[in-house]
This record gives sequence, structure tokens and C-alpha cells, in this order.
Amino acid sequence: MEKLVISGPTPLRGDVHINGAKNAAVAILPATLLIDGVCTIDNLPNISDVKISCEILERLGAKITWNTPNEITIDTRNIVTTKAPLDLTSKFRASYYILGSMLGRKGEIEVGMPGGCKLGARPIDQHIKGFELLGANVSVEKGTIHAKAKKLVGTSIYMDIVSVGATINVMLASVLAEGTTIIDNAAKEPHIVDVANFLNTMGADIRGAGTDMIKINGVKKLHGETSYSVVPDQIEAGTFMLAAVATRGDLWIRNCITKHLESITAKIMEVGGNVEDEGDSIHVWCKKRPNKANIKTLPYPGFPTDLQPQMGVVLSLANGSSIINESIWDSRFQYTEELNKMGAKITAQGKSAFFEGVDKLYGAPVYSTDLRAGAALIVAGTAAHGITEVYNLEHIDRGYENIEEKFRKIGANIKRISE
Ligand code: EPU
Repeated sequence: MEKLVISGPTPLRGDVHINGAKNAAVAILPATLLIDGVCTIDNLPNISDVKISCEILERLGAKITWNTPNEITIDTRNIVTTKAPLDLTSKFRASYYILGSMLGRKGEIEVGMPGGCKLGARPIDQHIKGFELLGANVSVEKGTIHAKAKKLVGTSIYMDIVSVGATINVMLASVLAEGTTIIDNAAKEPHIVDVANFLNTMGADIRGAGTDMIKINGVKKLHGETSYSVVPDQIEAGTFMLAAVATRGDLWIRNCITKHLESITAKIMEVGGNVEDEGDSIHVWCKKRPNKANIKTLPYPGFPTDLQPQMGVVLSLANGSSIINESIWDSRFQYTEELNKMGAKITAQGKSAFFEGVDKLYGAPVYSTDLRAGAALIVAGTAAHGITEVYNLEHIDRGYENIEEKFRKIGANIKRISE
């Protein structure tokens, strides 16, 4: 078993380079199944979710060459099976994108129910509704989803819920469908735009990604022979922005798209931090104890649920009391019990949590309950007095490349230890 041992407090200072977005990468990789050719993808984060995505593609018949730790060339000309490997697809959430891609490419796919962080109920009814409206038959039996279509035909699909996964999955299934598909009440996250940009680079005709109505004119074929660079990770950038505030540090966050960070910037300024952007960098610093603030998580462009635990660390140290309302997931406050072990005073009930700000956090052994909770605990350990041990690192390694190395470079006293 591995753990991270952090000795704090340390104000984080210096430059940090942001990798490509996990949630874009794990959709773009299955999207390559729609291409009958070879393409190169760079700025891929080197994280376990990406490695598992590549293994799944290889088991379906793709040939992958790692050119560098962050760039692959992928040949999807010879897809040999329509059964996705259950042992791998159950390991993470985004394996559901195999459904849309393989329906588009082969008209059939069998895949296990997806795994991923336990954040409460994670139904996929909107994905299935979209596939069925396009003409597929979908059945779910004994934890396996089987989708089959003689032909997919474009249609209008209204999403009952704003869903990132369903928007991308239906977009994937529509790219090679006959005619035009309209996705209404679509999600607008930056990675949705990135997946659409990737597909358009390969010959698709998708318009309106980033708005709540996406129009996909079906094309006959996607070509390869092109390279694509994954968008920078908005959530990784936001994690370091909030780490700068929680530790009263001074960070330059490089290789990010500052437009994607506006809701985080606004909240940081509300709690008394400073933010300035310059090209593809953002400078965040904070010299004093943060002020209280209330947060409600929302789909993009609202405050992202994936930064809620990291913001929770800032508010646990704020001067005054704050409330967070989580509107996306039923169970995203598990990290508050861990923060309370470190001296925080948080009362979580259902989808709300009340933060009575404390002056200091103190090191303690703590457990990541999911990916973003794990990142928040590293931020808390860096801000806390004494030694923090963070366990369950497999969650964190799913989504952050070299996290301890990045924290070490900006001054954190952090090491990974195998027990
Ligand atoms: N929902 C349904 N039915 C569906 C789909 C979703 O009811 O068919 C509900 C969900 O239960 C949830 C809400 O709709 O209450 C939004 O879920 P969404 O589908 O948007 O989430 P997702 O696609 O499963 C992605 C990210 C999550 C991120 C959410 C929200 C990936 C692989 N995962 O999940 O990221 O929290 O969008 O922004 O893109 C993370 O990176 O740590 C993470 C959990």
C-alpha cells in the first residue's frame, strides 16, 4: 500500500504546468474508434484512466504506439470484436463512451456497467434514451449493457438532465448516423467542445458544442492522418488555484485556458485571494486568511462540482461560516469527515455542508474517498500544521499526473511511501 506523507504548513510558490484534461482525454480515446485510420493525440495526461482506456482500445483491436509519455499514435483500422473487456471497463466511469463510439463504428457493442468514483447514484438513462432515439436496441442484463442498431438515423434528442456523459456519448453515436441529430439541453463543459473539435478535425460535422444545442450532420466516414492536442485540464488548474489560496501562497499556473476558470476566479476573489491572467497563464496569490463564501455547484459555466472538495478546504480555513450546496452528486461530502479529523468543523447533511471556519488545520492520517477528495486532502495536508498521511492513492492517480512531483516543485514537503 502506498501513502503520501506531507509535512506542513507550506505556502506554495512558483510555477506549475497543467496537463491535458482527463475528462476530455477519456472521451477522445474511445472517439478514435469512429476513425477508420491512424491519428496522433498529444497533451494526453499520463494517468491511470488514460492507460486503462488505451488497454481497452487495444483489446478491441486498435494498435497504439506511445511516442512520448503524453503522445500516442493510434491505428483503429482493424477493430476485431464488439465485446469490451469487462475487467477493464468496470474500473472507471468513462468506459461508457465505448457504447456511443462502437454503435457508430460497428452498430453493436457489449460492455459492462461503468465503474468510477462513488458519488451517489450515477444512472445512464439519458445515454440509453439517446441511443434508442437514434434507432438502437439497448438492453441491460446482469450488469452488462448490450446495444445494437441496424442503422442509426439522426433525430432530435432532448436531454431531461444536463449530463456531460450523455451529451458526449450521443454525439459520438450520431457522427456517422444518417441525417442530422440535434441534442437539446446539452451540457457545455470545455471537454464537450474539445471532443467535438477532435471529431471535426477528423472530418465530422458538429456545430454548436459549448452551447445547449448541438447539431450533428452525419458524415459517411472519419479520416485519420491527423494529429490533435487535448485541451488543458480546467480542474487540475482550479485545484492548484485553490491550493495557492488555502496555503496563502503565490502560484503561476501555466498552460491553462483562463476563460474556463472564470467561476473559480470569481470565488477566489470573493474570499480575498488575488487572480490575474496573462495569456495562457494565471497568477493566484493570497496573503491573508480567506473570507467566508457560499458556493453552489452547477454545470458549466457554474462552479464545478469537481472543485467542490478543494474549495471546501479553503472554506474550512475561512474567517466565518460558509455553506456549500452540491447540486450534481448525492454523495460528494465524504471528504468532510476526513477534514474534520484534521481539525475542521464541518457538518454535512445530504447535499449541503456547513463550514465553521477554523484558524488552523492539523496533520492526521486521512483517506481519499474519491479522486477530487484525494486532491483536496493533499491541499489540506500542505496547509495543515504537522504530518498528514494520505491513503487510497489509487483514486488520485486516476486523474492527476505526477501530483506529488508537482506539489514538491512548488515547495510542498511531500513524499510517496510504499508500506
Ligand atoms: N444523470 C442522470 N442520468 C444520466 C446521466 C446523468 O440522471 O443518464 C445525472 C447524474 O446522476 C448527475 C447529473 O446527471 O446527478 C450529472 O451527471 P453527468 O452525466 O454530467 O456526469 P458524468 O458524465 O458521469 C462527468 C465527469 C465527472 C463530473 C461530472 C459533472 C467524466 C468522465 N466525469 O461525469 O467528473 O463530476 O461530469 O461535471 O467526464 C471527476 O473528474 O472527478 C468526475 C467525477
